[in-house]
Parts: sequence; structure tokens; C-alpha cells
Amino acid sequence: MARHFISVFDLGEDGAPKVLKRALEMKKSDYRSDLLSGQVVAMIFEKASTRTRFSFDVGIRHLGGATIFMTPAESQLGRSEPLRDTARVLSRYCCGLVVRTFGEAKLRELMAYGSVPVINALTTEGHPCQIMADVLTMYERAPNLEKQRVAWVGDGNNMANSWMEAAACFGFELRLACPKGYEPDMSLLQICRKKGANILLTESPQEAVDGAHYVNTDVWASMGQEEEQRVREIAFQGFCVDEKLMALAAPEAKFMHCLPAHRGEEVSEGVLEGKNSLIFDEAENRLHAQKAIMEWVFKN
Ligand code: CP
Ligand code: NVA
Repeated sequence: MARHFISVFDLGEDGAPKVLKRALEMKKSDYRSDLLSGQVVAMIFEKASTRTRFSFDVGIRHLGGATIFMTPAESQLGRSEPLRDTARVLSRYCCGLVVRTFGEAKLRELMAYGSVPVINALTTEGHPCQIMADVLTMYERAPNLEKQRVAWVGDGNNMANSWMEAAACFGFELRLACPKGYEPDMSLLQICRKKGANILLTESPQEAVDGAHYVNTDVWASMGQEEEQRVREIAFQGFCVDEKLMALAAPEAKFMHCLPAHRGEEVSEGVLEGKNSLIFDEAENRLHAQKAIMEWVFKN
């Protein structure tokens, strides 16, 4: 049976901290291996990417493998070849599929019809690779994750959903502030709370940021929502992470953003570029976290 990575939960209660620890070891040792030697990973991207594409490609090379990248526009996917056929064809050439797409149902279809592991490189519902990198960014600073308070200010999007899963797996407190109508997946919130996660959902950015050790945000309109930009700019008034909001957080609180960022919208230029901004450490940690995730997936 192929081992897939679709959500942080897939790592399991024991697995998630182990993968995190392993990612830090890999980072410290500038890890290389021949785990994927002679093998090729297919990268299927239906949305744009800089960090995810590069960090997977580089990480797969560090593990001795190679990649082939494709988008719908340059493959038969864009001419309506069914995903289930693509899954069965690519499974015969490649050892795994790294996929960035819209609905998670597409990943489930690839899993159902293909015979190799599927790794979620972002869907509309979640971004688990980014979250593992972000938790690594916290962990390398303060390993006592259960003592940390994390604030999320903005859209209840893929990142917010994955943060909730991480709160359930790693035990930090999560306070999400989302405008009315832009909440995260409420059934996932219930699942995370049932697993013991300490998650507060509010409409007040001030309440979420109060005393937080890490303050997170993301764009107001995610990929595929560009047409909603104007409406969202109105709905998200008061949700910009600026110096005034950061002043409510814990002393020396860190700012986090998965990038790309819209300066002056969800975050001020000063906070994004400030001394407490972790944005480039998060971007770097994509590489290390994904190498550990791929070891978990492919060493199975
Ligand atoms: N954070 C992130 O996933 O960036 P890319 O869209 O550039 O891959
Ligand atoms: N929420 C953003 C994350 C980009 C990495 C999006 O889905 O576009």
C-alpha cells in the first residue's frame, strides 16, 4: 500500500513529532541520500508556484531522485484526459506524485487510481507541507511547542485549516481571527477540538494576537479567488497585520507568512521586513520539512 501525505494528520500522533525532529536533523546536517536514486517523481501543478516547486525539485535531487514537472496547459490534462487515466499512466513511470490542485477530491482520485504515493503540494482546502515547514520554524527556535500561542489573522483558507491540524498534532494554542463569512472549515475545527486542540475562533484580530508568540497571516484572495479580490478587500478591513497589531502580541513576537505576500494589504511593509519576521526561514524550511516528509512517504 502506498503511503500518502494529504494532511498533517496522515503522519499520525507519533509520526508528526518524529518527522519534525528528522527535518531539523536534516537541516543541521545538510542531508543527502540515495533514497530515490534512479527514480523519478511527477510534479503535477494546476496552480502557480515558486517555493513549492523549487523546494520539492531540490529536495528530490538531495534524495538522489529526479523530477518531471507538468501543468494542464502543456499536458493532456488540459485537453480533458481524465485524472484517473493520468494517475494510472504516471504510476507506471514514476515513484510518486507531488500535486498542487484545487479540490482535495482530485488528490483522492489520484490516490484511488494510481499505485504510488501522492503528496499534497497545496489544495484549496489545505497546505500541509507549508505547515510542517512553519512548525519547524517555530520548533527550531523554541522546542516547547505546547507552551506557544499562535495567532492567525485573515482568511480561513487552506493555511488556516492546516494550522488547525497542526495545533491538534503539536499542542500549541491557536487563535484564529477571521471576518464573518471567511471562517475555516468548521467540521475540521470540530475534529481538531475533539483531538484535544486548543483553538479559539474570533472575529477580533486584537483578541487573537493578544499575547501571541507567533502572528501569522496570508493573502486575502487565494489562487483561484482573484475575481473576489475587491469584495475581500472590503470584508478584510481591520485585518492588516501592522505594527499596532503586533504591539499587542508577546514581547519579540515573531511574524510569519507562507508567501507570496501582498504588502500593505494583509501585512504592512514594516512588519514583513522587520527584525521579527521569519518569512525567509519559513521558505527555507520548506526544503528541510519536505525532505523529512518524503523520507516518511518513500522509506515506507
Ligand atoms: N508558500 C508557497 O506554497 O509558495 P509557492 O506558491 O511559491 O509555492
Ligand atoms: N492561501 C494561498 C497560499 C499560497 C501559498 C493560496 O492558496 O493561494
